[in-house]
Amino acid sequence: MQEKLRIIITGSNGFLGQHLVNFLSQRHFEVFATSRGANQNKLTKDLCYYSLDLTDKVALNTAIETIKPHIIIHNAAMSKPDSCHNFREECILNNVSATKYILDTSKPFNPYFLYVSTDFIFGEDGPHDEETMPKPLNFYGESKLKAEQQVQESGLSYGIMRPVFIYGPSYEGMRPTFLHWVKNNLEQGKEIKVVNDQRRTPTYVYDICKGMEAMIDKRFEGAIHLAGKDIFSPYQMALMVAKELNLDSNLIRPVTSDTFPEPVVRAKQSGLEIDKARRLLNYEPVSFEEGVRQSFISG
Ligand SMILES: NC(=O)c1ccc[n+]([C@@H]2O[C@H](COP(=O)([O-])OP(=O)(O)OC[C@H]3O[C@@H](n4cnc5c(N)ncnc54)[C@H](OP(=O)(O)O)[C@@H]3O)[C@@H](O)[C@H]2O)c1
Repeated sequence: MQEKLRIIITGSNGFLGQHLVNFLSQRHFEVFATSRGANQNKLTKDLCYYSLDLTDKVALNTAIETIKPHIIIHNAAMSKPDSCHNFREECILNNVSATKYILDTSKPFNPYFLYVSTDFIFGEDGPHDEETMPKPLNFYGESKLKAEQQVQESGLSYGIMRPVFIYGPSYEGMRPTFLHWVKNNLEQGKEIKVVNDQRRTPTYVYDICKGMEAMIDKRFEGAIHLAGKDIFSPYQMALMVAKELNLDSNLIRPVTSDTFPEPVVRAKQSGLEIDKARRLLNYEPVSFEEGVRQSFISG
């Protein structure tokens, strides 16, 4: 029997990480999941899990030498823009230095390195394609861009995947998404204020999983966007959640982003173009409406 490819998925306790572990474990890979603390994944049985902090070079080195990975999906990150803004050194350590440690440590095994980046490396005037000049508006975006540059300069065969505003089913042990926040509040009859002056191309998590599997199968080289095909404001998304679940949409109040003054600058017009993924990976995401339906059927 042919040896299964060994794949490391970092940040396996996070939202995307858990979905990637569940999805790729069902495929032709031997999955090694790693995150900080205890394993939170309740769905994948007999998961090979390494509890480790990626900023701990010694522990990282031991794990990589033991696993000898063919593929690394580096998905772990300090992913909240507010935390990155407030704790900059920690952000650099987790998002930039840790990426360098993984690249350096894994080099002897020459893996295909798949880095999970973000639309936040871009500025205004989205949706952006892969040729758009990066122009991060906040520290989180800057840190992810620096990590991308390290990946590009590593000498490894690499793919950089950029998603935006990820949503999907939320199982036990996973953090809830924006969609679940909307659902929970409306179910309790609570009014919510949702911004209507920002636009995104929300990405269904299973579309990302399928797209990343295609990247791995083709050993896709370079950067590619895996996003949704629809452009919506969070307010419009909230209305669609209410419609799908027959909840009271009168509880959803549209507001402008200056209603929530915050130090972190976010693009008003963001979102990512997906023509390249359609052409090169046969990527065809679901509509947002369908993604919302799927999120609540199974989550
Ligand atoms: N969510 C989105 O809408 C979105 C959009 C664009 C791009 N992305 C990117 O997608 C990736 C996954 O996002 P997500 O929303 O799933 O994030 P998440 O839920 O915050 O998960 C990130 C995971 O990384 C782990 N982690 C962070 N630093 C680590 C370290 N030093 N050592 C070990 N583990 C570490 C975290 O551990 P703890 O649980 O201990 O904190 C967490 O489990 C990130 O790279 C993010 O930048 C996300």
